[in-house]
Amino acid sequence: MVEVTSHTPTRGEHSASNSANRLARMTAKRRDTVELEGLTVPRNGPTGRPVTSFPVPEPLKGHGPARIIALCNQKGGVGKTTTTISLGAALADYGRRVLAIDFDPQGALSAGLGVPTHDVPNIYDLLLGTVKDPNEAIQTTSTPGFDIIPANIDLSAAEVHLVNEVAREQILAGVLRKVSNDYDIILIDCQPSLGLLTVNALTASHGVLIPLECEFFALRGVALLVETIDKVTDRLNPSLKLDGILATMYDSRTLHSREVLERVVETFGDRVFETVIGRTVKFPDASVAAAPITQFAPEHPSAEAYRQLARELISRGAVA
Ligand SMILES: Nc1ncnc2c1ncn2[C@@H]1O[C@H](COP(=O)(O)OP(=O)(O)OP(=O)(O)O)[C@@H](O)[C@H]1O
Ligand SMILES: [Mg+2]
Repeated sequence: MVEVTSHTPTRGEHSASNSANRLARMTAKRRDTVELEGLTVPRNGPTGRPVTSFPVPEPLKGHGPARIIALCNQKGGVGKTTTTISLGAALADYGRRVLAIDFDPQGALSAGLGVPTHDVPNIYDLLLGTVKDPNEAIQTTSTPGFDIIPANIDLSAAEVHLVNEVAREQILAGVLRKVSNDYDIILIDCQPSLGLLTVNALTASHGVLIPLECEFFALRGVALLVETIDKVTDRLNPSLKLDGILATMYDSRTLHSREVLERVVETFGDRVFETVIGRTVKFPDASVAAAPITQFAPEHPSAEAYRQLARELISRGAVA
């Protein structure tokens, strides 16, 4: 939990308090119970567990130090970048100060948030030390309170450059330490690999969030990912915690999607977030518009799903 100190309200907070009513209105009114044979019983969500209402969080009275979460899965196209953008924006709408780190040379996070990536200081410059102050690389996004450090294809050279560095796994941690007090949450959007960059992300983080696409091969490779997380916990970062597994691209109409989710819950139990992200073309549409879903289609169920994930993380104590 963050330390609470008195301070002057920031632009993000004003905007957050202004939008609090709007957010509360948009929070879908779900019926958490159903009538069954004359009894009122809890309604089950897609994970098979009773639906919980996660309350709209109270505004924070102060900011930082940040809890750092890596969004990690070496499988490509499972929703890491989409989750970083949508969750980051939802947390910022709840008045949290959020910094997203683009840690993928493809630069999809930077593109998805519509920030320039060339001829600007970026995460690669910070890793190499050619830029010393992370504040020089931080850019604001269209969501107040939500900032980003961009990346571009140069980052693909980082693994080669860093391999001979002293404490090569801890370089990102050193960079983030310098700005940690200015944010409540730092989200690291990892590339789909378990190489040195991802190990840096895991070493710098307090928690890992694993997005898992609800399709047949979803669980393939997760054992290797969990093994990597365990190794980092043993050797580099004993306080690293698996914050949860997020089922993405779920289609309730297909038996296939429902069976995969059932398997995921069987395997990981309570570590699976109750929030499940449905499959919808709104996400690719939002990427084209370079806007978070919470701005592109704020009333859409998938925007509400990411707001629910933000509330679930706050309720679980994973973020302040
Ligand atoms: N819930 C969803 N429903 C439909 N499409 C989605 C959903 N989430 C993400 N997508 C789309 O799927 C594609 C892959 O998503 P995304 O880029 O977030 O995955 P990723 O895990 O970051 O991929 P990579 O491993 O390549 O970095 C994108 O085109 C995105 O718009
Ligand atoms: Mg990505």
